[in-house]
Amino acid sequence: MTLEKDLILILDFGSQYTQLIARRIRELGIYSLVKAYDSNIKEIENLKPKGIILSGGPNSVNIENTLKPSKKIFALEIPILGICYGMQLLAKEFGGKVIKSNKKEFGDSKFMIKKKSKLFKNIEINLNHNVWMSHADKVSNLPKNFSKIGESTNSKIAAFENKNKNIFGIQFHPEVTHTLLGKKILKNFIEICECKKSWTAKKITKEMIKKIKLDVADDKVILALSGGVDSSVVAAILNKAIGKQLSCIFIDTGLLRKNEVSEVRKITSSLKINLTIVDASRKFLLALRGVSDPEKKRKIIGKCFIDTFNSEAKKIKNVKYLGQGTIYPDVIESSSKNSKSDVIKSHHNVGGLPKKMKLKLVEPIRDLFKDEVRKIGLDLGLPRALINRHPFPGPGLAVRILGEINHEKVRILQEVDYIFIEELRKNNLYNKTDQALVVLIPSKSVGVMGDKRQYGYVVALRAVNTTDFMTATASHIRHEILNNISTRIINEVDGVARVVYDITSKPPGTIEWE
Ligand code: XMP
Repeated sequence: MTLEKDLILILDFGSQYTQLIARRIRELGIYSLVKAYDSNIKEIENLKPKGIILSGGPNSVNIENTLKPSKKIFALEIPILGICYGMQLLAKEFGGKVIKSNKKEFGDSKFMIKKKSKLFKNIEINLNHNVWMSHADKVSNLPKNFSKIGESTNSKIAAFENKNKNIFGIQFHPEVTHTLLGKKILKNFIEICECKKSWTAKKITKEMIKKIKLDVADDKVILALSGGVDSSVVAAILNKAIGKQLSCIFIDTGLLRKNEVSEVRKITSSLKINLTIVDASRKFLLALRGVSDPEKKRKIIGKCFIDTFNSEAKKIKNVKYLGQGTIYPDVIESSSKNSKSDVIKSHHNVGGLPKKMKLKLVEPIRDLFKDEVRKIGLDLGLPRALINRHPFPGPGLAVRILGEINHEKVRILQEVDYIFIEELRKNNLYNKTDQALVVLIPSKSVGVMGDKRQYGYVVALRAVNTTDFMTATASHIRHEILNNISTRIINEVDGVARVVYDITSKPPGTIEWE
């Protein structure tokens, strides 16, 4: 984006919290970007950052060939904050000493400010503060011209500064919510960098629209709408920017949630978005007939999706652009791979569309985190229920029906899923869980209905809490609520004889069953 805005640049040394630093800075109204630790100095200079943060990371600064930034960042004469590994790097760089700690600190720890510093403005001195630590090394000797400003339970030097150069180091993680004073510290750092607030949903939206108008001009854009948050927000932005030059295509795979098609129609028509709905459900179900291997199912669905999208797109003449809902975490994950952070990107949406189409990409939300995408979506008039929707996998209910898929199983699962989600909403639990789903287990179990024995499928309810979908725990749902949901399902959905609740964490389980 071209908005003239003050930037805090984060160099990523592979900490699992690096993205969080950027999110916290942005929450404070300042633009922030994550770049690989070894970014070229020219690239850094071109970005004109007002301050740099060196992230944490899993390495030790004492090993050979340890990860280092370009030395020239220290000549830029802008404030620098080193966090954890970043702090140790600064210590070493300026002639201090870092040693292996005899006691590692992981998790909650106590931190005490020992000397007034601009970094700790409005935070009480000589008092214990709860902080989040994750380190095995520690700074044992300060570099020349640096002074200690804080200590923790196991580190005599847990924070330091070079007042003249505006260089700071903290051993703990201010970006993690356990560190209660973290937000204040980051705010103080932003003040030290003399950043002006410019990162608000309104300004971002305005800037995005301006840029799309400029880039796309009079050309046409097509977009695969999935009914999820990202593609819906992209549709709303593009629609605002270029109106009828946008054509959205929604493919009904026959593997969607109940009422999905009518919901999408309702929303797009209220925003006057140009939409074609393609009913390809027969094609998908036919292609999946007799297939029970999960990866095969995914491949078949991916291919059917692309074929269907392609043939529909061809009907729209003179299209130049393909809209995509890529968001910032995807961009960081692919660009920071050198930083050795342990990112496991397990899934891609089926919407990864054909290169053959020779279309230029327009990716308006490429710079944004999910919570920012949500704010913008609300600003653009998308309904809150859509914005707060749980993720839904590209292959849809196909990966929630174990084994072979047929129309009957899809129908049953749609009904059960509808009841589960409706009950979670009624009980104010939907927004307290991060993903809720139902799995249909294709073996039949005995039940008694009225006075008759009957066989029906088993369905497993699953609701999880997670921040990044890489780890998750089963949500706690009260027994009475589960009982009620189970009763409704058995009474209202023909073909189900038993309801179970999945309490497996991830790992070892995954969120989906296939
Ligand atoms: P797992 O099951 O790996 O899921 O714990 C993590 C997250 O990814 C979603 N998921 C998928 N999304 N295509 C998608 O677009 C897929 O094939 C796919 N499989 C899993 C899952 O719903 C959860 O949010």
